[in-house]
Amino acid sequence: MNGDGTGLPLHSLNPFMPGAGKQPPELVGRAHDMELMDRMIARTKLGLLDRGVIYSGLRGMGKTVLLLKLNDMASAQGLATVQIEANGDAAAEYEELFHELSLAVMRMRRSDIRQRLSGVFSHVQSISLDFVLGSATIDLDGEGAEKRTIRASSYRLELLIEGLAEELKKTGSGLFLFVDEFQDMSSEVMMTLITVQHRMGQRDLPFCIIGAGLPNLPGVLTKVRSYAERLFAYRDIGRLGDGAVADGFQKPVRKLGYSFDDKALSRLIGLAQGYPYFIQAYGKATWDASDSNPITVAAVERGEPVARTELDQGLYMSRWQRATPLGREYLAAMAAVGERCTSAQVAKHMKRSVSDLSSIRLSLIELGLVYSPERGRVDFTVPGMDEFIRRAMPAESQSYDRRS
Ligand SMILES: Nc1ncnc2c1ncn2[C@@H]1O[C@H](COP(=O)(O)OP(=O)(O)OP(=O)(O)O)[C@@H](O)[C@H]1O
Ligand SMILES: [Mg+2]
Repeated sequence: MNGDGTGLPLHSLNPFMPGAGKQPPELVGRAHDMELMDRMIARTKLGLLDRGVIYSGLRGMGKTVLLLKLNDMASAQGLATVQIEANGDAAAEYEELFHELSLAVMRMRRSDIRQRLSGVFSHVQSISLDFVLGSATIDLDGEGAEKRTIRASSYRLELLIEGLAEELKKTGSGLFLFVDEFQDMSSEVMMTLITVQHRMGQRDLPFCIIGAGLPNLPGVLTKVRSYAERLFAYRDIGRLGDGAVADGFQKPVRKLGYSFDDKALSRLIGLAQGYPYFIQAYGKATWDASDSNPITVAAVERGEPVARTELDQGLYMSRWQRATPLGREYLAAMAAVGERCTSAQVAKHMKRSVSDLSSIRLSLIELGLVYSPERGRVDFTVPGMDEFIRRAMPAESQSYDRRS
């Protein structure tokens, strides 16, 4: 596209942003979540406490960008905020938490608050934990020493959050902790955070966890601490309605003085299937393929194969390649069975027993490629993965068709 009179090549103005965690030009369909956040912020400032919030949804549904947005809202209102991404390594997760908490303190605008919060940090660091951990005079082997450090971090984190929340409460503020990929968190750190959330609630201190993760997240939290069920409000983050999808395409281009005509827009809505990642992918390819204003369906058609190739390479192929050969066989069998498949159907398709395949199923879950929406069922974490496998890996999916 070119010719807007600015002299800039229009490629460089492309507003769409496909990619994990990339803030979209227009965050559509999340007004309700933002309203709830506004209310939580207002209540926190009044000293009233709400439950934490857990968002769960498939890959590319917009969990990360929503957390970033809610975080911005809270920090703009003077709350202390921290955002971390879980990775399953307890020591690294504690380190990130302490690091991010110290940055949150430094980011506080009022210097008197900043000073008092740094005081809490120094105090917590100076406390000796020998009393609760037992003295370390006996030589500990590597593993024992590591466990001791992890336990010490757990105590320190609790003391730190408690101390910070007490100080923040005095000034009508609070601490919000945003945790992305929460389902991947090490059970030690997850347990500590849930316990802290619980205790802060009992003591009426303003600390709140807002977490996001795959659809198995609520189950993972409850398994670690059964009372996690009552501690959080659970929200699904799923496909967007057509109105929101239309806004997701139209609003960003309108801001640049362009528009999609009706036919182009309805074709794009059909392609997006309510999936935020697709809005960005098809929006970007259409813009690049367009040479008119309004943008027509011809541009959508020219852009479509480009977007599809990019999605195949960026979204799907990288995930496919992460799996082992046996893992790929399992994925291909899932794709061949179709939607809402059970582990039993997959096993039958592969002419194996369910127990034979349980370790491969587990490794695919650990890789974040599949999840179990309910007992006995398996599903892809990325929308459209089944279609990709059938389309791009016909050999693999067909080899099972022949055998079955
Ligand atoms: N509400 C929205 N409106 C428009 N675009 C969105 C919206 N939410 C997300 N997107 C776009 O979709 C893509 C995926 O978003 P994001 O990375 O936040 O998803 P995610 O759920 O965190 O995925 P993953 O599980 O892979 O981490 C990004 O390109 C982002 O710009
Ligand atoms: Mg994400």
